[in-house]
Order: sequence, then structure tokens, then C-alpha cells
Amino acid sequence: MPKTALITGISGQDGSYLAEFLLSKGYEVHGMKRRTSTKYSACIEHLKDQITLHDGDLLDSSSLIRVFEQTRPDEVYNLAAQSFVPLSWEQPIFTTEATGVGVARMLDAALHVDRNIRFYQASSSEMFGKVRETPQRETTPFHPRSPYGAAKAYGHHITVNYRESYDMFACSGILFNHESPRRGLEFVTRKISNGVARIHAGLDTELCLGNLDAKRDWGHARDYVRAMWMMLQQDKPDDYVVGTGEMHSVREFVEIAFDQVGLDWQKYVVVDPKFYRPAEVDQLLSDPTKAREKLGWEPRVTFEELVREMVDKDRAILSSKKPVGLKLKTA
Ligand code: NAP
Ligand code: GDD
Repeated sequence: MPKTALITGISGQDGSYLAEFLLSKGYEVHGMKRRTSTKYSACIEHLKDQITLHDGDLLDSSSLIRVFEQTRPDEVYNLAAQSFVPLSWEQPIFTTEATGVGVARMLDAALHVDRNIRFYQASSSEMFGKVRETPQRETTPFHPRSPYGAAKAYGHHITVNYRESYDMFACSGILFNHESPRRGLEFVTRKISNGVARIHAGLDTELCLGNLDAKRDWGHARDYVRAMWMMLQQDKPDDYVVGTGEMHSVREFVEIAFDQVGLDWQKYVVVDPKFYRPAEVDQLLSDPTKAREKLGWEPRVTFEELVREMVDKDRAILSSKKPVGLKLKTA
């Protein structure tokens, strides 16, 4: 019997890579999406004949219970969230509801429909915020710096709590930043790769960014979804930090991205304070020792390969688009 998986947030970056990965392992894959979702549908367009989609919303418990009953999953991957940090200051209550309380709704639905479900929660390095130690590991205290980080910290704690209270197989993956050509255009890496492609194509003359000194531990999303699955295959549920163990600045990302098209970044990048945050996470660096030793997980894509792949892909996307306003020659 093939295993059945339910992925929330399947229309997002990670959801699409995880769906591909689970299909390759022979899973029957179900995805939950919001009825109003259109933005990211491109990420799963190529999978539409191999997966089953169900309407549901983290804000609506009854929809979650219905999706659990319809799909009867062996494994649930809760990837859905309001995931963009700056928006969390503009919509703190919605972010808390979706990214934080939504986790409790998911866990409770699982508990009531089938408490043997294996549950993965998409926790985040953003919980470490104003970091208490470097590198960060599973035992590092949290100090979130955004409503998003605070909501994720709640999601993390409630996952641990359901594991301890009800003996559920609930795992929390504390994932550091991971990117890909499927990343939303608002996140800094994709904003840069898309911006570089547009400048190189002569469509833009500058790229406006915020804090170039911020440092992140950036990996490739395809590597990270493998870690999610590995967590649910263990004998015991646990929490794991997942990252590369390397830290780079936004400036370094910019330098390599412009280098990929042979341009000098200093001629094009403009720092605009409107992209600064009310409270910044200055640096994040993982210690992924536990994931390496217990799961056997290691990242395969290097930072430089990631940056260059993203730029190349954005150039390919741009050149495959029909030029706007150009009339076809007719005979
Ligand atoms: P993403 O591309 O923004 O995808 C988020 C998904 O959540 C989208 O499919 C979105 O659907 C869905 N969603 C949002 N609000 C929802 C709601 N109320 N009900 C149901 N679905 C909702 O994010 P990602 O990069 O794939 O990240 C996946 C998860 O990992 C997120 O929880 C994120 O916070 C977490 N995480 C990400 C990273 C990273 O670096 N990528 C690191 C650590 C943790 P729509 O299409 O309807 O908007
Ligand atoms: N978005 C954005 N836009 N960020 C910028 C810009 C800009 O123009 N200029 C500089 N930055 C800096 C931000 O200040 C931040 O320090 C860093 O680039 C990364 O920003 P994002 O790419 O938006 O990601 P994030 O680190 O805030 O959050 C991502 O990673 C978390 C894991 O640590 C998201 O994927 C979260 O959902 C995830 O949990």
C-alpha cells in the first residue's frame, strides 16, 4: 500500500518540491490550498495530474477536519503560513492566526481524526531572531524579532506540547533560509536574481534593496524538503535544525548574482531605507550537527551554485516570455 501524504501550503515553494519528492517515493499526494490562491499556482502546474487538491484554510478548523477526513493521511506536512516577514508588521493579527494559531488547529484536527498521523511543522530560524548564541542549534533560546517570528515560536511550542501531551508523532523542523527559482519575488534572493535578469535584459536600470549587511544561512529548498521527510521516517519524533552551517551577507549574494551576467553590482544597486525593518535579524547561522548525525541529512547545493542557478533560471524565464508591445510581422 502506498503511503498517503497531505501537504498544506502545496502551492508555495517548499510545497511544490516536497510534492515532487514524495511522488518520487511512491506516495499518494494530497495538497491543501486556499480557494483564492492564484499567486503561486505556477509552482505546481506541472504536477496537477499526479496530485489531488483540496480547498482549506488554516483559519477555518472545520475545513481542516474535512480535509483530514477526506484524505486520511499517514503523514501531514504543515507548510502553510503567512511567510513574508515584513508583511507580519502590517498584518500581525492575520499572521498570528495563520502562522501561529493555525498550527494548533492543524494539530487538533489530526488528534481528533487520527492521532497516529505523523505530523511535520515548518518551524523557522526566524524564531532565534536576536541570536543568543552562534551558531544556533535545537537548544538555543528563541528571541523572535517580528510578529512572524513570534507566531512561529508559538507554532513550535504547541507542536512540542501536542507531542508531549498526547504522544503524537509531531516533529518540528527549524529550517534556516532556503531558496530556489520558485521562491516568491518579494524575498530578497529572488528579488535579486529577478532584478539582475531584468537589468541584463535592459528592462530595468537599478535594483532597490534594504539592509545589505544582513547575514543568512542560505540553502536550496530541494535539499530541505528531503530533511522534512527524513524526520517523519525516524523511530521517535524530535526537533531538528536544518541549515548549511555557512553564513553569507545579502551583499555577497548580490555580488555573485551580478557576476553571473558579467556586470558590476555597484553600478545598479540602490539602498532604499524603505526596505529596512522595524527590528532586524542581523545574522543567522545553523549548527546542523543533529540532522547530520541522526537523520544522515546533508545539503547538496552550495551557496554559489544556488545564486547562479537562480539568476540563470530568471534569465530563461524572461527570455521565454513574449516581448510586450512587439507586433508580429504579417505577410
Ligand atoms: P511560501 O512559498 O510563502 O508558501 C506558503 C504557502 O502557505 C502558500 O502555498 C500559501 O498559499 C499558503 N497559505 C498562506 N496562508 C494560508 C492559509 N491561511 N491557509 C492555507 N494556506 C495558506 O513559503 P515557503 O517558502 O514554501 O515555506 C514553507 C513553510 O516553511 C512556511 O510555513 C514558512 O513560514 C516556513 N519556512 C520557510 C523558510 C524558507 O526559507 N523558505 C524557512 C523556515 C520556515 P497561497 O498560494 O494561497 O498564498
Ligand atoms: N525581502 C527583502 N527585500 N529583504 C531584504 C531586502 C529587500 O529588498 N534588502 C535587504 N533585505 C534583507 C532583510 O532585511 C533580511 O535581513 C534578509 O534580507 C532576508 O530577507 P527575506 O529574504 O525577506 O527573508 P527572511 O530572512 O526575512 O525570512 C525568510 O526566512 C525565514 C527563515 O529564517 C522567510 O522565508 C521566512 O518565511 C523564513 O521563516
